[in-house]
Amino acid sequence: MKTLRVGVIGVGEISKIHIPHILNYMNVELVGIYDIQIEKAIKASQSFHIPYVSSYEELISLRPDVCHVLTPHDTHYEIIKDLLEHNIHVLAEKPLAIDYLKAIELVSLAEEHDVILSVCLQNRSNKTTRKLMSIIDNKTFGKLLSLRGLVYWKRDIAYYQKDEWRGTWRHEGGGVLINQAIHTLDLITLLGGEVESFYGSYFNYFLPEIEVEDQANVSIQFKNQARGFLSATTSNVIDSPVEIDIVLEKGRFKLIGDRLYQNTEDNLILIEKDASLHGEKFYFGVSHEKLIHDLYDFLLYRYGEVINAKDTLTCLEIITKIYQQKNVNKPMVIDHHLKRK
Ligand SMILES: NC(=O)c1ccc[n+]([C@@H]2O[C@H](COP(=O)([O-])OP(=O)(O)OC[C@H]3O[C@@H](n4cnc5c(N)ncnc54)[C@H](O)[C@@H]3O)[C@@H](O)[C@H]2O)c1
Repeated sequence: MKTLRVGVIGVGEISKIHIPHILNYMNVELVGIYDIQIEKAIKASQSFHIPYVSSYEELISLRPDVCHVLTPHDTHYEIIKDLLEHNIHVLAEKPLAIDYLKAIELVSLAEEHDVILSVCLQNRSNKTTRKLMSIIDNKTFGKLLSLRGLVYWKRDIAYYQKDEWRGTWRHEGGGVLINQAIHTLDLITLLGGEVESFYGSYFNYFLPEIEVEDQANVSIQFKNQARGFLSATTSNVIDSPVEIDIVLEKGRFKLIGDRLYQNTEDNLILIEKDASLHGEKFYFGVSHEKLIHDLYDFLLYRYGEVINAKDTLTCLEIITKIYQQKNVNKPMVIDHHLKRK
């Protein structure tokens, strides 16, 4: 049976979630981990008993089948482009790039080289998301009318000072919208369907020490007449569980963290639940493992569902255009057109 050769680029916070899930897949060989700060790669190599490499070129020379890109946002484009040009499959952490035009370029490049480009928007793999998709698609509760997402998290100044790239336009590419709320906005666009138009605004109210926004709002008009709303901040005093309210013609549902409820007039009835991730980073959710293993299943055996970067471009286009429009109150539209094979 073939073994998948895997490489990891960037051995910071999120690698602590990726590496164990790489190692607990059956037919895998982690050929090398690379970090621009070599001491981080050495430390992870010692704790996980895995090989590290001292340069990017060395990692490429080991001929990995797939690489996980777990580096700061502004580095994604160049690294992913180079991997695709070497015909290596890529699992990139979100956001795929800090500009949706660059993201489109990467998606086209992956198609050209006939490799998979997947993006780590792991909440797409949640059981609750799948349940919601089937509720909306099977129309038992009628047409979708609205989706309203709330992301109220806490990222204090210590978080932004931890690494130089955080809180900067140049390296992070934005604040709460492109980093934290991207997951919920992605679910809203996944569940809502094709976008007719959208509005958005972003401000920095409580964190003057950083350049980027700590608050954002998005309003979407979908082509099916439904509306989507997102309100997000990183200036809450706690990490509240993400909430999404879903209104259909004949029923209401509410997602609170890892639980999905049917919302009747006076009751919340639990209808689906994901496993809970415990500890400080509970809000990452549990689906990194499923997303990684589904990708590996697909690469090895051609079965299973892959989160294809191509299907996540709408969310990134909305975010990029909101930043570019700089709070001018005018509707915006989606206009990405991919070159097809
Ligand atoms: N999906 C999620 O739930 C989730 C959660 C947290 C972070 N993330 C994403 O993961 C990515 C990394 O975030 P993090 O919190 O781990 O950041 P981090 O700063 O802790 O780690 C990034 C690592 O990349 C290394 N690095 C920087 N430039 C590099 C380069 N050119 N080549 C190789 N290594 C390089 C740094 O030295 C650092 O060790 C970001 O895109 C972030 O948005 C996703």
